[in-house]
Amino acid sequence: MFQGQGSVRPPPPYRHDIPRYHSYSKRRSGCSCFGCLSCCCCFIFSFILITAALSAFFYFYFEPKAPRYNVTNFNVLEFKTQPDLSLYTEFVVSLMADNPNKNIGFIYGKDSSIVVSYSDSTLCSGQLPAFHQGPSNVTMMDVILKGKSTFGSGLQQALMENRNSGRVPLHVEVKVPVIMVVADFQSKQIDVVVNCSLIVSNLTPGKKANILDTTYYEGMIIERTYIDLN
Ligand SMILES: *[C@@H]1O[C@H](CO)[C@@H](O)[C@H](O)[C@H]1NC(C)=O
Ligand SMILES: *[C@@H]1O[C@H](CO)[C@@H](O)[C@H](O)[C@H]1NC(C)=O
Repeated sequence: MFQGQGSVRPPPPYRHDIPRYHSYSKRRSGCSCFGCLSCCCCFIFSFILITAALSAFFYFYFEPKAPRYNVTNFNVLEFKTQPDLSLYTEFVVSLMADNPNKNIGFIYGKDSSIVVSYSDSTLCSGQLPAFHQGPSNVTMMDVILKGKSTFGSGLQQALMENRNSGRVPLHVEVKVPVIMVVADFQSKQIDVVVNCSLIVSNLTPGKKANILDTTYYEGMIIERTYIDLN
């Protein structure tokens, strides 16, 4: 995963010097050229072998795993429909950030986002705190999300019906820039994306909503390529 960062330069090519010394007397013959070529091949081959061995060592020694996030609690502070059909919401979402790695730490960057939406309309949003999470660490955090959404009467009706039935489907999208730390090396920034489909029991202000069901979709964006982690 961070081969580029962690790769150690192979030992200097000692082999290169030995054949050159031996073939010194017949430097101009075709044979020495062939020797040089095979030496070059040999060097490339050992380079590939060493790189592969280092990657395998890295992979099996460090066993890199992506951090995991779970929504553990969902509290509704405000949920007010305004006369102009807009909706003001304020939630406190408790998140558990789990770093299962024994040898890898994570630095969570500032530009994170957490967005709660209902049926494709954003209700509210907020940010995760930036912090450094050491190896084998589980950190709980409460995130306050606030937002005002312009909400058509159709959606409002649907939301009211869902509230009455006690099952409100919400979508929580978490995006965090993460830097991996292995010993003294730091990886490039990677965006970890977690989508969570959440069904909560109610959206009544001041009441803790029970989380009835959750489904997580987790992925990473490395250099604009999305990698599915499910
Ligand atoms: C986990 O990391 C956080 C943030 O660095 C720290 O405050 C907390 O004490 C750590 N927990 C354990 C169990 O080490
Ligand atoms: C997360 O949800 C957003 C918005 O619904 C979507 O664009 C994105 O592809 C989803 N990502 C994953 C990992 O499911």
